[in-house]
Amino acid sequence: MRVFVTGASGWIGSGVVPELIAAGHQVVGLARSDSSAAALAAAGAEVQRGTLDDLDTLRNTAAASDGVIHLAFKHDIAFSGGFQAAADADRRAVETFGEVLMGSDRPFVSASGLGGLTPGRVVTERDGHRLDPALAAMGGGPQTRQATAELVLSYASLSIRSSIVRLSPTTHGDGDHGFMAALVRVARENGVSGYIGDGTNRWPAVHRLDAAHLFCLALAKAQAGSTLHAVADEGVPIREIAEVIGRHLDLPVVSISPEAANDHFGFLGGFLGLDVPASSALTRQLMGWQPTQPGLIDDLDQGHYFTASLSGVGGSRVRN
Ligand SMILES: NC(=O)c1ccc[n+]([C@@H]2O[C@H](COP(=O)([O-])OP(=O)(O)OC[C@H]3O[C@@H](n4cnc5c(N)ncnc54)[C@H](OP(=O)(O)O)[C@@H]3O)[C@@H](O)[C@H]2O)c1
Repeated sequence: MRVFVTGASGWIGSGVVPELIAAGHQVVGLARSDSSAAALAAAGAEVQRGTLDDLDTLRNTAAASDGVIHLAFKHDIAFSGGFQAAADADRRAVETFGEVLMGSDRPFVSASGLGGLTPGRVVTERDGHRLDPALAAMGGGPQTRQATAELVLSYASLSIRSSIVRLSPTTHGDGDHGFMAALVRVARENGVSGYIGDGTNRWPAVHRLDAAHLFCLALAKAQAGSTLHAVADEGVPIREIAEVIGRHLDLPVVSISPEAANDHFGFLGGFLGLDVPASSALTRQLMGWQPTQPGLIDDLDQGHYFTASLSGVGGSRVRN
């Protein structure tokens, strides 16, 4: 297949591209900068220069492809107060792909998130498909993003083999600049490794390469309208994460009260206390997907999070 990948130079995309090429596909990657273009070319992909806002470029490149994997997201503006604008741009890109792929039966795989769909209980692939009308009426980036995921799924009725891959909030691995790296940075800065309350609240997790493999499987064989979960660890208690970080940095592991969480953790304070476990049982059954990379605790224990001077979300590579 000739596969158009947006976000091909990103954290997950840079895992997807080599796997597609190794499987014999031809990859066309969207690149908005010289450095991203160079990285894609070095990985063996064809480069399509452009941004998420160049809708004609998205349209023409998708039209000349046998399938699309959509991973690009404007994290740079999303994490500096512009989440709604980022979600709006994502929506326009998805609408453009829908127009061009309509009636083609070609695969269209789009990234999505798991955050907050059914807090406090294990979210499955069947959950999260009804938008809360009250929240939807209020608008807001996260609602827009969830609605966009539903739009992707609705393309099944337009003869597009569309699917969404909901990513764990921590998609970890060597080189991660996301939430785990941010947590390590916060621990370093505060001289303690913290968790909120009793720290029993859980986060799902997946290794970047296992997530990348799921995107490739979805491209190859997901049925139209599939919701897939890139979840290897159903729910890792935040306290366990804090303990590994404390051990590696030789820092005390302490409970932070919910009231002090924002002061202590900065922007992470709004997320770290959430209990958001997620299942991938259906995904494994449907796709034959089996994570093979280290789980989150083992990955943290490998030490790479503690050797580099990682800045975490807000650094050069940011994501949600
Ligand atoms: N990683 C996670 O833990 C996680 C969790 C939940 C959901 N997700 C979702 O999964 C998808 C991929 O995430 P990721 O972690 O791979 O993100 P990432 O590392 O931040 O990569 C984002 C990609 O989008 C590209 N991009 C950003 N703005 C663009 C623009 N205006 N025009 C064209 N391309 C643009 C970036 O290009 P440059 O290389 O030039 O910057 C990069 O290739 C995103 O939709 C993300 O929200 C990720």
